[in-house]
Amino acid sequence: MTTPAPVAIVTGSSRGIGLSIARALGRNGHRIVLVARDATSLASAQQHLAQSGIASATCAVDLRVDGAAELVLAAAQAAFGDPDVLVNNAGTAPTAKFEATTDAMLDETLALHVHAPLALIRAVLPGMRQRDRGCIVQLASTAGLRAFPFTAAYTAAKHAMVGLTRALATELLRTNIRTFAVCPGFVDTDITRQAARGIAARGKITAEQALQRMGEQNEIRRMHSVDEVAAAVAMLVAARPTGCTYVLDREPPAFID
Ligand SMILES: NC(=O)c1ccc[n+]([C@@H]2O[C@H](COP(=O)([O-])OP(=O)(O)OC[C@H]3O[C@@H](n4cnc5c(N)ncnc54)[C@H](OP(=O)(O)O)[C@@H]3O)[C@@H](O)[C@H]2O)c1
Repeated sequence: MTTPAPVAIVTGSSRGIGLSIARALGRNGHRIVLVARDATSLASAQQHLAQSGIASATCAVDLRVDGAAELVLAAAQAAFGDPDVLVNNAGTAPTAKFEATTDAMLDETLALHVHAPLALIRAVLPGMRQRDRGCIVQLASTAGLRAFPFTAAYTAAKHAMVGLTRALATELLRTNIRTFAVCPGFVDTDITRQAARGIAARGKITAEQALQRMGEQNEIRRMHSVDEVAAAVAMLVAARPTGCTYVLDREPPAFID
């Protein structure tokens, strides 16, 4: 009997880092469940993967709403079966001066970066425990380990995401289920380009200069590419490294715990 191809749920996979992770895991033989809010961009992501022979299903949902995690799990089970891999990647990066950071901004950021991943982990973990197999990857950030100006809500949320992953890792020690928080620095995606346009709108530098400065804030002195982040995630899923918090913004990348 042949073993069915493993199933990976990747949230925020209609574009950016998530789409690249979906492609990398697909190339490693996974069937992918693509998750984001916008059904049209999910359909084009699915088409894009199909061109490389990667099977995928889509689930259009706002992960901040109650019941979203159960909906995603049901979509995975209906299309392919129980998930072997969960990648919590969906995210937004609001910016504001500290004193302009509102409760609503913090709540929304925590909802997407902390509550939604927690709900998804709660949904998939019982099945993974039953099979004693699985991998949960959290797309955190160096903002989960240190701070950047004008990102109070994001920095708080990413620190919480890293903490959540570390707590989960302690409870998975004697299982074959693995979990990682992956921490890239700035990555060249819509989020960063939008931030660069915001900086340029203040009139002092161009968007290109702003992008270059962001890259220079990375320890590696340049932006990461989405494929670089995706390759790290695919490596962590495929190999069995020991460690939990994987810092990509290092030369070479390394686990710090
Ligand atoms: N770019 C960076 O510099 C950088 C650095 C370190 C870490 N990260 C992290 O990497 C992850 C991906 O970032 P990215 O730069 O690839 O962002 P992106 O290009 O803006 O993509 C974000 C993805 O998340 C989805 N999404 C956003 N809000 C959602 C919601 N409420 N429910 C469901 N899906 C939602 C988006 O689709 P819809 O809009 O259709 O929902 C999209 O697919 C984030 O967690 C981010 O914090 C990014």
